[in-house]
Amino acid sequence: MTTPNLSPGVSGLSPHAGPPGAGALLAGAEAQSAQAAGAPDPSLIAQLANQFFSALPGSAAAPTPRQPSFSPVLSVAPQAASPAVWSNSLPVAPPALPASPLAPDVAPPIGLTPGPNELRNVPSSLGGARSLVPSFASAPQAPSTSGFYFLDDAASVSDAGKTPFHFGSISVAPELVEKHPNRTPDLGFGTARPFDPRAIRNDFPILREQVDGRPLIWLDNAATTQKPQSVIDRLAYFYEHENSNIHRAAHTLAARATDAYEGAREKVRAFLNAGSASEIVFVRGTTEGINLIAKSWGGRHVGAGDEIVVSWLEHHANIVPWQQLAAEKGAKLRVIPVDDDGQIILEEYEKLLNSRTKIVAITQVSNALGTVTPVREIIAAAHRHGARVLVDGAQSVSHMRADVQALDADFFVFSGHKVFGPTGIGVVYGKQVVLDETPPWQGGGNMIADVTFEKTIYQGAPAKFEAGTGNIADAVGLGAAIDYVNSIGIDNITRYEHELLAYGTRALQTVPGLTIIGKARHKAGVLSFVLDGFKTEEVGSRLSKEGIAVRSGHHCAQPILRRFGLESTVRPSLAPYNTCEDLDALVTALLRIKAGR
Ligand code: ALA
Repeated sequence: MTTPNLSPGVSGLSPHAGPPGAGALLAGAEAQSAQAAGAPDPSLIAQLANQFFSALPGSAAAPTPRQPSFSPVLSVAPQAASPAVWSNSLPVAPPALPASPLAPDVAPPIGLTPGPNELRNVPSSLGGARSLVPSFASAPQAPSTSGFYFLDDAASVSDAGKTPFHFGSISVAPELVEKHPNRTPDLGFGTARPFDPRAIRNDFPILREQVDGRPLIWLDNAATTQKPQSVIDRLAYFYEHENSNIHRAAHTLAARATDAYEGAREKVRAFLNAGSASEIVFVRGTTEGINLIAKSWGGRHVGAGDEIVVSWLEHHANIVPWQQLAAEKGAKLRVIPVDDDGQIILEEYEKLLNSRTKIVAITQVSNALGTVTPVREIIAAAHRHGARVLVDGAQSVSHMRADVQALDADFFVFSGHKVFGPTGIGVVYGKQVVLDETPPWQGGGNMIADVTFEKTIYQGAPAKFEAGTGNIADAVGLGAAIDYVNSIGIDNITRYEHELLAYGTRALQTVPGLTIIGKARHKAGVLSFVLDGFKTEEVGSRLSKEGIAVRSGHHCAQPILRRFGLESTVRPSLAPYNTCEDLDALVTALLRIKAGR
């Protein structure tokens, strides 16, 4: 029986979970006052806890204990904390990934450099026997060095049929690629780790679920993403050690909760590259964020005869609030058309803009088709006409870098649950000057500076938009989700998913009678399709019986589906924990459905 080493880092086990930045001062002051009041030294507590746990029956037999999946005191690296305190309440050694139902000998998916044994399996599993993507059969070459390789100039999805298609680490000649040892810039929230989709998958406990006796294959990420253990642990930690209302009391837990909440705001600020944390407003989600802006900013700035521009690609959440506003004010809703591939027609957009245009509300990625829209150009054109722009980032934040300053967005909204965070928490970014010209939309506590029966003086942003007790714990959980994304690197995710999307596109095209809906040159995360002779619900429920979760239906985006003469599609959608094996399983199941088996 061994007692785990205690390192100086055990102070990380202090129940105070305040992140650095906003909370650091409070944390320090609090620690001092705790010491002054004779509170026990946290390192002593940790030591005693370790001795206690290591003395428990069976503890010696336990495999390497699981490290805390987030750093409770973020200035202390998780490895520095003594693991024993955590390991006794949390599962250890997650089970291995389920094997691919299609080809147990399948070569590692992209991102995994095959070892010598794995390389021997490549030709039969990827190229020959299954011929899922025939071009893969051509002479896979071992890279000369190990690591994850990114294509310097990856072919776009629509180019995949024409351009020699290099995929993953096995078929890419070393001179064509850029080696990735640790490419992601450290954003200050964690250390970037080598990109490994299977390791990422292991971070998500729900992906070990069985559905109808089959391993779960989660391809419904556009509806919601799954949560890594670190987010789950962070939420539990909040309720175990920090829970309090915020901003309101002098007691210790109020300070902890306030630190954690404001720390999360700072993480969101950095994630979006906003200039100031006061430009970050917490809301319930994208839908609430757009409603806030339409009702509040729109209520003040849109009048009779004014125009609001949206696109055909919008989710209902970015149509209905503007329709309501237009009806209330006597304004006009104008719609940017898309071409037959589902791409914004920029020339037509420019023709819609004029001095009556007050706001353009545009999605960055279509939830129904996956189209990536040219938001930078859209914003620049709107600004030339003096209009504000709202970017709906619900479907983009988990797939690509969101830089609100580079985009020059006036508003940017997203939901936490689409980026590995909890449900019920979302964000409105607004430029300071724009938030200053936006009145509060709800009245109540927290958002006021002073109240008399005659008059209320409001706080500035963001507090003036956060009336009442907000979703404190889930904001903290969103902060942990952002830490998680940063630990992988959003640019790594973009590149990996680009390859995965290309693979999925080619693989789906091998299914007879399957038509992909939305063939934009720039797509992210979504593969929408219809299957000749089958209702989309039928396909969805048949796939579910195979353990494969996809969304089928109108995806809350009826106008764009009707633009293609459809009422619904089947929509697999991707995350970095998905692999080629998931897509192989999808295609195999579709081939079975099509063959009537
Ligand atoms: N907006 C989510 C979707 O596209 C729910 O599925």
